[in-house]
Amino acid sequence: MLTILLIVLVILVIFTLKYVFSSPESNPFANDCREPLKKKVYDEKTKNKVLKQGFVASKVPDNLDAVIIGSGVGGLGLAVLLAKVGKKVLVLEQHDRAGGCCHTFTEKGFEFDVGIHYIGDLLGDSPFRCMLDQMTNGQLQWEPLEKAFDHVVLGSLENRRSYPIFSGSARYLEELKKRFPGEEKAIDEYLRLVKKTEFGTWLLVVLKLCPLPLAKFLIHTGLVKHLSFFFKMAPRSLRDVVNELTENKDLRAVFTYIFGTYGNKPKDASFAMHSLLTTHYLSGAWYPKAGSSEIAYHMIPIIEKAGGAVLVRAPVNRILFNDAKEACGVSVLKGQEEVHIKAPMVISDAGIFNTYEKLLPKELQAMPEIQKQLSLVKHGEGGLNIFIGLNGTREELGLKANNYWIFADNNFDELMERYLNDGREEASKKIPLLFVASPSAKDPSWEERSPGKSTLTVVSFAKYSWFEEWKDGKVTNRGPDYKELKQVFIDSALNVVMDVFPKITRDKIEYIDAGTPITNTHYIGAPKGEMYGVDHGIARFNPEFTATIRPQTPLKNLYLTGQDVFLCGFAGALGGALTCGSVILNRNLHLDSFLLAMKTKYINKKLKDE
Ligand SMILES: Cc1cc2nc3c(=O)[nH]c(=O)nc-3n(C[C@H](O)[C@H](O)[C@H](O)COP(=O)(O)OP(=O)(O)OC[C@H]3O[C@@H](n4cnc5c(N)ncnc54)[C@H](O)[C@@H]3O)c2cc1C
Ligand SMILES: *[C@@H]1O[C@H](CO)[C@@H](O)[C@H](O)[C@H]1NC(C)=O
Repeated sequence: MLTILLIVLVILVIFTLKYVFSSPESNPFANDCREPLKKKVYDEKTKNKVLKQGFVASKVPDNLDAVIIGSGVGGLGLAVLLAKVGKKVLVLEQHDRAGGCCHTFTEKGFEFDVGIHYIGDLLGDSPFRCMLDQMTNGQLQWEPLEKAFDHVVLGSLENRRSYPIFSGSARYLEELKKRFPGEEKAIDEYLRLVKKTEFGTWLLVVLKLCPLPLAKFLIHTGLVKHLSFFFKMAPRSLRDVVNELTENKDLRAVFTYIFGTYGNKPKDASFAMHSLLTTHYLSGAWYPKAGSSEIAYHMIPIIEKAGGAVLVRAPVNRILFNDAKEACGVSVLKGQEEVHIKAPMVISDAGIFNTYEKLLPKELQAMPEIQKQLSLVKHGEGGLNIFIGLNGTREELGLKANNYWIFADNNFDELMERYLNDGREEASKKIPLLFVASPSAKDPSWEERSPGKSTLTVVSFAKYSWFEEWKDGKVTNRGPDYKELKQVFIDSALNVVMDVFPKITRDKIEYIDAGTPITNTHYIGAPKGEMYGVDHGIARFNPEFTATIRPQTPLKNLYLTGQDVFLCGFAGALGGALTCGSVILNRNLHLDSFLLAMKTKYINKKLKDE
């Protein structure tokens, strides 16, 4: 056993060294690229000049190094990495603005963001923050949420319990123990398990990056489970682990509530995925100052500086292949016409299903290797978003920089099963799980941008099939039945919201509308309205899956980036970009970014000391 372990270690070290000694010109994290903070631009028109550059063939740069399909953070992030080493990259987006889940839209004067409510792991000089600073040249600013960033609210109106979740391991433990006397051991053990599991994530990256035969060796010898606690815990359900720790039903709920950030109820969730999300927010939660459109707004100029471009209203309708079955470009549908764009490399941020089922020619889609990958993946649950514009400041409305996770009951498995299986009539009348947050209250620039106003966003899950019959209608006019059904969902959500936020009353609402799974299909290209792309259930954390779904596809010159190739969430999709960039540039960018973070941390500290 010991000898095998040693052999593996040697192979891993060689594998790592290969990356360390590759040329610095291919390292996007070779130098500290942060620039002094420029004056903030809030004017929408000015920002749209960057975010909404419409596609015309004449704007396509020539001699491209790569084309990226989709402008989510997985696509833009990768484009930035490539641009930083001088590559000319074209990003194509089907929607009318860049950003994917990070885009924002404005209705009746209220700006809403779509898929960014809070991001963790940004404390001080954390490696993740350093990486983001580098990828936005130091221009993207983060605002911390309250110390109690999440509130878990359980039970019906008559018997509602609220548990605040605090940032910082010590405070997290202390506050939970205060609320659950007698459960000290369970609480300590939970956090210990979560941290130990998260620590093993390095092997997830290695399995995606190392040569496939090595990955297979690690898997088939069972070494993955010995090397990393992550893969030891991956096949265990969140429910099973937590139920062993405590009998207290509210505490079980508090341990598991964050399943909403990846979408699998405790019975189906992998304890490994859950550990990642729990630790992600352990040091606190942050929101991008001036809203999530800032992310794309500060990434695009870096791509352009290297000669690349980010063009919108550019739906790719197929990937082009040469006779040797190598990807060699894409076709963009402009009205009825196809515009062909040639590039030596095509990378897709559009997700596995879109890429393999919609963009490949039939004969390539039928390849056994492609079919094998498709057989591993499953569509994630659909999302429901309610956007509310309010007349009143955060003080007047009692809104804070935090989130509420409101559940009708503490048994999440039963609650989710009933909700999603009961049929839409029942479901629409009583949504048992609601995430509620005020983006405007999290943003210190809001008051200046929209004085006297506030926003509130409500998020939940919804089945694609509930809305499927309207999928071919026009997005803003799908007919009265669709509107009516949306209204029932809106009203039942509002009833809960007004209970929990007593200062919010109907007369304060200036704008309200709901986005359903078919809305997600239209605006973010989610084929089944998925909130987080490919399903994150236990099967996804099988090491076999981890190693098979990697940036390289079975087709030469075609790569995958974004949440489907790594994990969901802003950090997960960026992890996809880093992983894909590693493969393309033939070096470990996770490591490069970490090393630069260590260096800048040291410099920052020295500056402080002087
Ligand atoms: C409601 C909601 C709330 C969320 N909240 C949080 C949160 O608080 N914190 C967090 O960390 N994460 C959150 N997430 C998740 C996070 O936003 C996503 O996981 C991440 O941004 C995904 O990035 P991506 O680049 O992989 O994909 P996307 O952002 O989905 O980008 C894919 C892009 O590809 C485009 N596209 C698809 N097909 C084509 C085509 N044929 N041609 C051209 N373009 C195409 C799409 O239009 C889209 O812009 C949330 C998600 C949702 C939906
Ligand atoms: C907003 O509320 C104020 C009173 O607080 C009122 O004077 C104003 O007319 C309201 N605006 C709208 C658009 O409803």
